[in-house]
Amino acid sequence: MRNNIVHAGSSELTYEIRGIVALARQVEAHGVPIVWENIGDPVAKGEPIPAWMKEIVRDLALQDAAYGYCPTEGVLTTRQFLAELRNGRGGAQITPNDILFFNGLGDAISRVYTLLRRETRVIGPSPAYPTHSSAEGAHAGTRPITYHCDPARNWEPDLADLENHVKFNSAISGILLINPGNPTGAVYSREILEGIVDIARRYDLFIISDEIYINLSFAGDAVPLADVIGDVPALCMAGISKELPWPGARCGWIEVYNRHVDPNFEVFVKSLFQAKMLEVCATTMPQMSIPTIMTHPEYLKHVEDRRRRYERAAEIAYDRFSQLEAVTLGKPQGAFYLSIVFRDGYLPHDGVMPIANTALREFIESKVIGATPESRFVYYLLAATGICVVPLSSFETPYQGFRMTLLERDLDRYTLTVDTIAAAIEQYCGAQAAAKTLATVTP
Ligand SMILES: Cc1ncc(COP(=O)(O)O)c(C=O)c1O
Repeated sequence: MRNNIVHAGSSELTYEIRGIVALARQVEAHGVPIVWENIGDPVAKGEPIPAWMKEIVRDLALQDAAYGYCPTEGVLTTRQFLAELRNGRGGAQITPNDILFFNGLGDAISRVYTLLRRETRVIGPSPAYPTHSSAEGAHAGTRPITYHCDPARNWEPDLADLENHVKFNSAISGILLINPGNPTGAVYSREILEGIVDIARRYDLFIISDEIYINLSFAGDAVPLADVIGDVPALCMAGISKELPWPGARCGWIEVYNRHVDPNFEVFVKSLFQAKMLEVCATTMPQMSIPTIMTHPEYLKHVEDRRRRYERAAEIAYDRFSQLEAVTLGKPQGAFYLSIVFRDGYLPHDGVMPIANTALREFIESKVIGATPESRFVYYLLAATGICVVPLSSFETPYQGFRMTLLERDLDRYTLTVDTIAAAIEQYCGAQAAAKTLATVTP
């Protein structure tokens, strides 16, 4: 090219959740059936869509209006419904004009960071869902800025660390939180949320709260940001991909809180609406389905049944993995993920797992050359057992480990997957664990 056409932040655009699929397909080609534990799509994991939900969508498909554009902000009756739902809780009060629909939250996330002034930073949790951290890093043309979440405290955000960053980096203008968390399954307490809002208020920042899993908390109801936001400007992100679940609809929205309290925030919000106008609008039909689906007599039970199943899977995984010396983990309380962290000194740099198929063994040996110890473990696990998980470092964290899901519907099969991974960890980290034990018993 005559000029360098590559954006300075392009190297930040990585998404290992799907990236690992290419490797898994190559392993599959060697005859190994794959257990897909990498992707947070309940439908791909066999979640049946209830007949009543399909009937609602089928009936919409018979309406001409479902095939047209809708207003830029989104279908008015749906925004009215969502605003009433929000206002009914008594926290932040919004009007339908404070809601803006996108083609999935992925679209919303990318739009929000792209429209931020280049020098402006949003600090996010570590670990974090990579679409946020990558988009923020790409926008700034450098590494994302993060606050620490502690695996020993169920991945609770370290508010002192957050405040330190905010205090000493004046470019930070916003705080991102993901509640319930991906990849951790953490659900933030009211106190933590109040602490984050307090920091935002004192340093004159806005908040982005990704609440796509807000109704998938199984350890009691998750507190939405709207309940504690007070007068701090914020963007709350929600969607139907996980809750209905209908990820293929590509339908999510932003709710704006306290848009008028800060003129600069107000102009930024206006730019979000203007940018959507250039694209005309988001997909119409999924938006039209929301009020009818969410008020259906079976809806709450449908979501509750899934929550209980994820809770059971979380217990199975937590009970098994917490017996292992080599790893540590928080007990998931919401969403449908679990992050497992290798304790310091337990993950070997040269570990191997037995792979009977010579061609596959040689293939994976070629792939682990130069890989981090964590990726090496994940690649060997894939080739030796067919289980496909995601390296934890893909989630903007220094912790070495991996993320798996709680989505498997057959709990016997899930138990087998968990047992297989646990046995693989024991075997893989066995020499390190034995060395540790020896070091502690040798005077
Ligand atoms: C925390 C979080 N936010 C947003 C998204 C993207 O959702 P959507 O399907 O609406 O693009 C995901 C998807 O996994 C997610 O985990």
